[in-house]
Amino acid sequence: MPFGSGRRSCPGVSFALQVLHLAFSRLLHAFNLATPSDQPVDMTERPVIHYLSSRPRTAKSRVSNTRAAPERDGAWPIIGHLPLLGGSQLPHITLGAMADKYGPIFTIRLGVQRALVVSNWEIAKELYTSCDVVISSRPKFRAAKHLGYNYAMFGFCPHGPYLRELRKITSMELLSSRRLELLKRVRVSETEICIKELHKVWSEKKNYSGYLLVEMKQWFGDLTLNVILRMIAGKRYFGATVAGNEAEARRCQKVMRAFLHYLGLFLVSDMIPFLGWLDNLIAGGGDTTTVMLIWALSLLLNNRHALKRTQDELDAHIGKDRQVNDSDINNLVYLQAVVKETLRLYPAAPLSGPREFAEDCTVGGFHVRKGTRLIMNLGKLQRDPKLWSNPADFRPERFLTTHKDVDVKGQHFELIPFGAGRRLCPGINFGLQMLHLVLATLLHSFQLSTPVDAPVNMTESAGLTNVKATPLEVLLAPRLSPNLY
Ligand code: HEM
Ligand SMILES: *[C@@H]1O[C@H](CO)[C@@H](O)[C@H](O)[C@H]1NC(C)=O
Ligand SMILES: *[C@@H]1O[C@H](CO)[C@@H](O)[C@H](O)[C@H]1NC(C)=O
Ligand SMILES: *[C@@H]1O[C@H](CO)[C@@H](O)[C@H](O)[C@H]1NC(C)=O
Repeated sequence: MPFGSGRRSCPGVSFALQVLHLAFSRLLHAFNLATPSDQPVDMTERPVIHYLSSRPRTAKSRVSNTRAAPERDGAWPIIGHLPLLGGSQLPHITLGAMADKYGPIFTIRLGVQRALVVSNWEIAKELYTSCDVVISSRPKFRAAKHLGYNYAMFGFCPHGPYLRELRKITSMELLSSRRLELLKRVRVSETEICIKELHKVWSEKKNYSGYLLVEMKQWFGDLTLNVILRMIAGKRYFGATVAGNEAEARRCQKVMRAFLHYLGLFLVSDMIPFLGWLDNLIAGGGDTTTVMLIWALSLLLNNRHALKRTQDELDAHIGKDRQVNDSDINNLVYLQAVVKETLRLYPAAPLSGPREFAEDCTVGGFHVRKGTRLIMNLGKLQRDPKLWSNPADFRPERFLTTHKDVDVKGQHFELIPFGAGRRLCPGINFGLQMLHLVLATLLHSFQLSTPVDAPVNMTESAGLTNVKATPLEVLLAPRLSPNLY
């Protein structure tokens, strides 16, 4: 049962099988395939993705001799780095400490590879505006693997016509505002279902003081993945939950058909990257959204005044006689500030997306050579004490006062959790809608606390995304009358 089984089995089964069958038949039909000197393929699996910390494999000797020459400009310290990055500290923390010592722009070497590390908004702005074309490529697969991204990172393709096409389809078709509006039903109903299920478990398993202990990482993960898979695979549209809404369901189905059509076009032009792309869209989009939901709830549980203020706002705008719906989100300004502050403190990709300089380039007065990696240290940049008072504190209020006009859409370089420029995250609107809707619904539906009111452990784990290291165990009890669940 590779797709699981039972009520929560993967809704993407038929879609996934179609893709696999079609792609493999086209691939095997169109090409003769063999391995160099008929070597068997190494079938080792990788259990964990170690971000930056894995060492490059062998066979680097000749290359490293020519590339290891220090950067011409002696103003940049060239530090010897992989050992530092492999330590117990997370890469963005280690690189942040280096920035304190060496400044907001410096280079390091990762094995044979040179990387430019950027930690402040001025340089970020210069890069994403005047050098944006030059930095719009992702590192090559092999190199990506060396860096530990292990192919799992979002779109690795270089900047060019293929990427433009891919981004056009993602942002204009699958993730466009219009499409997201059409697919609103999916978000809302899936959230509703998950809240209902949570309530059901509560009513069966609560102890006699009326509390249920729940591990929320799993719950957020299931919910996000269900929504994304339903958007792409479209299952459940004709299930019991939407029986009364044929017309909308049909419209959604049409969207899916268009998507499958594009899928066909892609398979003709370049099938393997496409598979990666789809996979990454599901994995990348689901993972980042889940990670952000976990941090947002953790921060609220560690800052109970903010939790209370969020719930007060929900009660003021929605009351207790109905559930939250999508059109309420605009009114929930404090909730939006909570989400921004979470994206500032715990951006899901603390080193942003991997980039590579496609040409030589001058940045901050320094010369950067073609082929250099770019590491944008968001974890550091977004906690710059020059721009944020008490930068490590969780203060959503700053987005209602001092930072009222700062948004996360890549125009304000002090806060770029979704990146910026041409390779800006195309899932930004969908991601924000999910964060707002799920948090609003959960906090409106349940009273939340931690066992013995202990603070939530905020340790981050190393990996592609900075997922919280330990489980998030929460005590919950309903806040609304039973008929609303
Ligand atoms: C909700 C939180 C999310 C965060 C914080 C986030 C963050 C990011 C970041 C930092 C990048 C790299 C941008 C750069 O290199 O400058 C990225 C790229 C990307 N994201 Fe997201 N993302 C989120 C949600 C999503 C969702 C929901 C989807 C899809 C449904 C998605 C799909 C992608 C794709 C396909 C790329 C690669 C774009 C390219 O290479 O051109 N993301 N994201
Ligand atoms: C109910 O469960 C919670 C969490 O396990 C615990 O803190 C609380 O004391 C329990 N109440 C009773 C009456 O058992
Ligand atoms: C959402 O709530 C608004 C009231 O704030 C209501 O007018 C609208 O019909 C609701 N939409 C749905 C789909 O329930
Ligand atoms: C938090 O979790 C980390 C990682 O598991 C652990 O090393 C640390 O001791 C925990 N901190 C507390 C206060 O429990």
